This record gives sequence, structure tokens and C-alpha cells, in this order.
Amino acid sequence: MNDQNTDQIKKEARRLQKELTGHSYQYHVLDDPVISDVEYDMMLKRLIEIEEEFPQFSTPDSPTKRVGAPPLTGFQQAIHSIPMLSLDNAFNDQDVLDFYKRSVKNLNREDILYAAEPKLDGVAVELKYENGTLVQATTRGDGVTGEVITQNVRTIRSVPLKLHEVKMRAPSLLEVRGEIIIKRTDFDRLNKIRLEHGENVFANPRNAAAGSLRQLDSKITASRPLDIFVYGTGFVQGISFQSQSLMLDTLKDFGFPVNSHIKSGLTIDGVLKFYKELEALRDSLSYEIDGMVIKVDDIFLQQQLGEKIKSPRWAIAYKFPAMQKTTTIKDIIVQVGRTGTLTPVAILEGVNIGGAMVSRATLHNEDEIKRKDIRIGDKALVMRAGDVIPKVVKIIESERKGDEVPFEMPVHCPVCKSKIEKVKLDKSIINKCVNASCQAQLKERIKHFVSKKAFDIDGLGKKIVVQLVDEGMLKSFADVFFLEKEKLACLDRMAQKSATNLTRSIEKSKNISLRRFVYALGIDHTGENAAKLISERFSTLKDIMETSEEVLEEINGIGPETASAVCKFFSNFENKTILEDIIYSGVIITNDQPVIAESHDNPFNNKRIVLTGTLQSMPRSEAKKQLEKLGASVTSSISSKTDFLIAGENAGSKLEKAQTLGVEIMDENWFAALLKKLV
Ligand code: IVH
Repeated sequence: MNDQNTDQIKKEARRLQKELTGHSYQYHVLDDPVISDVEYDMMLKRLIEIEEEFPQFSTPDSPTKRVGAPPLTGFQQAIHSIPMLSLDNAFNDQDVLDFYKRSVKNLNREDILYAAEPKLDGVAVELKYENGTLVQATTRGDGVTGEVITQNVRTIRSVPLKLHEVKMRAPSLLEVRGEIIIKRTDFDRLNKIRLEHGENVFANPRNAAAGSLRQLDSKITASRPLDIFVYGTGFVQGISFQSQSLMLDTLKDFGFPVNSHIKSGLTIDGVLKFYKELEALRDSLSYEIDGMVIKVDDIFLQQQLGEKIKSPRWAIAYKFPAMQKTTTIKDIIVQVGRTGTLTPVAILEGVNIGGAMVSRATLHNEDEIKRKDIRIGDKALVMRAGDVIPKVVKIIESERKGDEVPFEMPVHCPVCKSKIEKVKLDKSIINKCVNASCQAQLKERIKHFVSKKAFDIDGLGKKIVVQLVDEGMLKSFADVFFLEKEKLACLDRMAQKSATNLTRSIEKSKNISLRRFVYALGIDHTGENAAKLISERFSTLKDIMETSEEVLEEINGIGPETASAVCKFFSNFENKTILEDIIYSGVIITNDQPVIAESHDNPFNNKRIVLTGTLQSMPRSEAKKQLEKLGASVTSSISSKTDFLIAGENAGSKLEKAQTLGVEIMDENWFAALLKKLV
């Protein structure tokens, strides 16, 4: 090959390296991809080919380095230039006020302002950049010495291999500190795959992140969904920072992901107020946090306060209540679900976890109990996370006394006594009561049918449903609409007034959207989202009843299991009769999509809208879909014809352009609030 050709290839390699780096940042840090995954993969494939044939064109910061390097035989150790300290903990407001008082005394001033950040529950790392290039990554270790995990950290897409020098030149040396995390959904997916491969599951995202970083083979690390948020610096040369908040702004400019729920310029009272806000947000975040880190914002004041041996005097961690606690499993019972699935449930010695009393935890299925070797009488670690049902993480084996009783799955349904069948679902076996008229299933189906997101019948709570099924007044969904006031009033715990109210709310519920109606039916594999997708594709219930599996499967987001379950449901004779009865009772099903678009409160109808930046409440693709449903057209570039710009975090050039053109700008909170009202 002649020099000219080699020169061409070198140019191509450099172009691909630059473009892929840019696309990776758009995708992993800004959450705003500009090319498709397939296009990215094709470009990467070409670059790998070139670098394999011409290794001289490969660079340490080439995106090809993200796929992993040859395995190591062990980790080297490295001493941190500045020790990585830990933080003192605060557990209540008074602890934080005491921290403030100590700072006031030491600094001899009261006007101290703070920066407050989520305390990320992951693994601390230090990244060292020399003249803008990542040269070393280390774990915190004992704070003085850490392990060198450079190859592994290079595989994390949101870690810049080279600093962005858009706003300023990279300093000669920059040590950046941050937390490596795994997002909750990525963690669930990772564990699901591990379970399918017969591998041990990780107890929580932090363990999964730590385990993934400790791999000698970085190809394994590359296959794990690791992410990072940076929160500080170590040793630096050629740059200095005046405050924690300005430091984070600079790190953001250099291309690092910085958490978006950070506030600065707070008084100590402001800090305490923000703690409450962050605590309220905790469950809705896509990653786990275990508290708030409070830092004196001014770096000069930080230096004046200095450090103790293990922790700084200028920062403190205000912890959230733990979401995991140990308690005793008093019993294991079996619940029959809406579709007949038997779910073992642990009855616990009541325990307060993060402010809520927990006395039951799901054990999922028989396999799970066997895998975790859970027995009645065991001491167990129980976890609560957000709205989801608490679960048993693991049992504490060291607390075993020997009299714990292994659980046996019943062979007959605990309610209708019919024989239980073992059915394969995905990769696991579930126990099922296949008797369609099992009272337990009927109760669950009706509870679901009348629940908030379905028919939303006020006054028809779970207890009344059980009572009505036991009394023989509800034998199917349809019976709900034939309940008579007089008969209801005769029931135990039901007075004339509540019977009247109940029949009124039943009457009111009879106008229902197609989306809610499909969801209410409780068809297997057909949750809220599937019901929504199906009702967007068809105009009427009749259309859905007459469709085929093939047509259903063509809907983006509907898989073969849902398609088959829907067709099976509607072809069942009994179900058809029930549906006829429901319609006969006066239920009116409307497909409400166009109605929303034309509503007076809808400012999006017939408007041109551009989305930019990272939205916290939903992915941009979802926002686009919702807006389109509301009659908007969502475009990618701003012009004078644009009606609104919806701007999330890190809204860069588009925001500036919108301001220049005088396009109306809507921030995410406003947008999310409007959507909630409209959809
Ligand atoms: S600042 C000297 N900020 O908490 C100050 N740490 O117990 C050191 N952590 O090892 C840390 N989120 O892994 C800081 N926003 C945040 C943090 C954070 C999580 C971790 C970090 C550190 C531990 C200290």
C-alpha cells in the first residue's frame, strides 16, 4: 500500500474516532442520540477493522478501547495523590445543624453557603487525565491505596476517554472523583439474564457495580451496564476552582456526567428543605441514592476548615432511612393471582423500613425459594424500593438454629382445591390454578377490573369485592353493573348511604376509554402500556375482537405472548358473553385520543415543537409520542416557525437559538405537569 493510501486510512481512522466519541457522548451523557444504534455499530465495526490492520492508528482514547482489553492476571495498586476520604454521617436535622454550628465556630462567620448533592449508592473511583487523556482509573480502596482498574473503566461509555475542550483547554493534570452506578432498570435486566443463565443474581445495584469493576477480564466489564456521575476532584495542575458548584460546571463542560439534582447557594435551612425534596424524589430516580451530601460550597472555606483523619470538616452525608432491614419470616403462605398464578408470600415480623411498616414480602415463585433456600423461621434481609412490593433479598444463614421449616408448594389450590399445574413461563416454572371459576382468581380479576387505572369505581374496595364474591353477588365482571342498591344495602357493613354512593359511582364509571377498558379485562401479558398501544391502533372494541395475532404483533411494543393472549381472550365463548352483558348494561367505550387533541386546555394541538436536552420524567422518544398524540408535530431543528421548545437538562445550542429567534421555551416541569393533566 502506498503512502497516499495509508494517509487516507489514517484520516478515516481519525474521523471515525472523533465522530464515534461525539456520538457516544450524545447517547450516554446527554441522552440525546443523533444517529441510530445500527449506524453507530457500523462505524465502530469499520474502525475496529482499520485499527486491527493498522495498529499504529489506534490511540489510547479510541472508542474501540471501550470493548475491553486482554485479561489481567491481577490488579496493580496505586497510591492516591490525595487520600480519598469518607464522610461523617448525619441521621437527623439536629446532626446537620450541629455540623453547621461547628463550621460557624471554626470559620468565625455565619454566612456559610452549601452545595447539596444526592449521595449516590455505587462504587467510588478516581479518574486521572493527563493533558486531557484518561491515563488511569483507580478504586478508592482503603482511601490511601486503591486498585488500578483503567481497562475496566475505559469500557464505561459515559466516562470520557478524552476531555472535551469546547469551552477551555484541558489542564495538564486533572484527577476526577465520582461514583460508578448501575441504573435500576439495567440492574433488573442484568439479574434477569443472569437468572436465565443459572448464574447468581446480585443483591443490589451497588454490588453489581462493584462486582463488574472487579473483573480481570475487561470484556466482562464491557458487557455490564455501568454508568458514572462525578462529584469532585483530587489532585489537579493547571486549573483551580473557586467553589464546588463551579467545579461541577467545569467538569460538565469537560464532558462528564454530573447529577442533575444538585443545588448550590443554600443556607443551612435551605439544605434541610432540599433534603425533604430529595427524599420525596428518591423512589422516582432511575438510580439508587442513600442520602444527601452537604458540602461547604466555597473551596477557600473548605481549605480553612480542613480535614480530620478519615473525613473532611467541610462535608457531611445526611443519610436516608435504610431500605433494607432484617426480620423474621413467621410463615409462608400462597396467594392465588388474577390469572391463577400461585405466589408464595413471606409473612414477616413487622418491621419499619424507610418509614413504612412491612409485614409481607413476595417470594415470587417456588424456584426463587429454592434458590435462596428460604425457610419458615429464618432471619432474612428484606428490601422495600418505591411502590414495588417488598421482597426478601437473602436469608441470614449465620442466624440459623436448625429448627427452620422448608416450604412445600401445595399441590392443590388453597382456595378452590383443584389440582395445581406447573407451567413454563419464560425460563422459570410457575404453579398455576387452571380452574377459571376459582373464586380466588375471580376476586382478583374483579379487584383489578374496578381499580383506579381501570373502571375506577369509588367505594368498591378490595374488601367489598371479596364480600360480594363470597355472597354470590359477583360471578363475573358484568355483574358489577347489575348490582342493585337495595341488595347492597342489606350487606354487612354497608349502609343505605354507601349503597347509594356505590351505585352512583358504578353508573359514573360506565363511560370509559378503550385504553382503560382493555386494561380492565386483565388479559395475560396486557398491562397498562400494552392496552394503550392496542387502543391506539384500533378505533373500537369490535375491531380488537376481530383482529388477528399477526396484526397485533405488527404493533411496535406488542410481543407474541400479548398478541396470543389477547386473541385467546376474545375468542373464548364465556368472555364474549360477559362482554355482551357489559355493553348491554349501558357501558359506553370511547376511544379518547382525538378528544384530547381538541381539548381547550391542550396547547400542543397543531403546534410545531422541538425537544432538546435530557428530560428527567421520560425518554425523549416517549415525550415525542405523547406530543404527537396531542396533535403536535415534533421536529428536530428550530426555526422561526417553531411554536415551542421544550428544554430539559443540558439544553445547549437549540436553547440559545430559540432565545435568539424568540421561540417560546417551556421547561420540563411545566411540560410534565401539562401532560399529566391532559393524558
Ligand atoms: S464527596 C471528602 N459526593 O460517599 C468528600 N461522595 O462516604 C468525599 N458518594 O466514598 C466524597 N455520592 O463514594 C461525595 N455526591 C457525592 C457522593 C459521594 C456518593 C460516596 C463516595 C464516598 C462516600 C463517602
